[in-house]
Amino acid sequence: MSDFLTELDELATAAQRAFAAAGDADELEAARVEFMGAKSGRVKDVQKGLGGVPKEDKPAAGKRFNEVKQQLQAWFDAAQERIKAAAVPGKSEPFFDFTLPGRAPRLGRLHPITQTIEELKDIMGRLGFSVADGPEIEDERHNFEALNIPHDHPARDPLENFYLHTAGVGAGQKQAPMLLRSQTSTVQIRVMENTPPPVRIIALGRVYRPDEVDRTHYPMFHQMEGLLVDRHVTMADLKSVLRLFASSYLGADVHIRFRPSFFPFTEPSVECDYYWNGGWTEFGGAGMVDPHVLQAVGYDPEQFAGFAFGLGIERLCMRRHHITDIREFYRNDVRFLHQF
Ligand code: DAH
Repeated sequence: MSDFLTELDELATAAQRAFAAAGDADELEAARVEFMGAKSGRVKDVQKGLGGVPKEDKPAAGKRFNEVKQQLQAWFDAAQERIKAAAVPGKSEPFFDFTLPGRAPRLGRLHPITQTIEELKDIMGRLGFSVADGPEIEDERHNFEALNIPHDHPARDPLENFYLHTAGVGAGQKQAPMLLRSQTSTVQIRVMENTPPPVRIIALGRVYRPDEVDRTHYPMFHQMEGLLVDRHVTMADLKSVLRLFASSYLGADVHIRFRPSFFPFTEPSVECDYYWNGGWTEFGGAGMVDPHVLQAVGYDPEQFAGFAFGLGIERLCMRRHHITDIREFYRNDVRFLHQF
């Protein structure tokens, strides 16, 4: 009995392997004849062994034989299905419905401050200003001295600035102190040092001040600096440019006003406000470039005059989009950022 069952098991394993290995209809037919052929198939051979099984074991052996026969048929049917499916083009691959609407990719977008910078460049470009750039790590000459900010000026207080820890270089030599620039006015100096007049530039970028963080203050923010130096430049030119700028960015119905103020690098100096939606809002400082500044970069103040201005970019963007908290710009919450 056990010989018969072993033979039956071997037959089943061999048949299963042969059906699974058949790569096309001919190979499968050959395997079918080998195992299930009516005259000389291996199933028939094994069946002959059933006669030698002792009488009392016959019912069990016969039952097992029938099970194996059915199993072979099932494996054969499965192999036939597989080969048929492979013969139909496209049927063996996962179904893909080309008519379904696509899934739209969620596109990223430019940060609102970047968008504002692009727009400001565009507006000022139309007024003839080209874009200049300067480093965010500055020395005291460009951040203060050449801008007529003397040593004892409160703006130079280490508590009002991010001074960098710079190591001494060599014996007895001290490296010049460096700081994160506190204003984009530094770029005025860099441009004038390298370009003879006339100049007409804007510089947009980050500035750093150790301010307490609240709705309107952040230790890093952006400014747009403007500088125009030429012969016969007056305050009227400054006001015209700022008015054109304000109406281009905020709308034709905006009014601006100048209030007297003080900056070391301009004389006279003003604060510029715009009136819009029922109230005056300050949008930056401005003035005529101080002759000391022109001298510091080798320009002749008898020949040339200039105006300069510096505006906070966050403030403009907040006003445009009714954003009430500057911290929103730097939280990186995509729910906020996706609105712009
Ligand atoms: N640098 C000034 C600040 O950060 C802003 C400013 C005022 C820039 C007057 C100027 C200017 O160019 O003329 O507060």
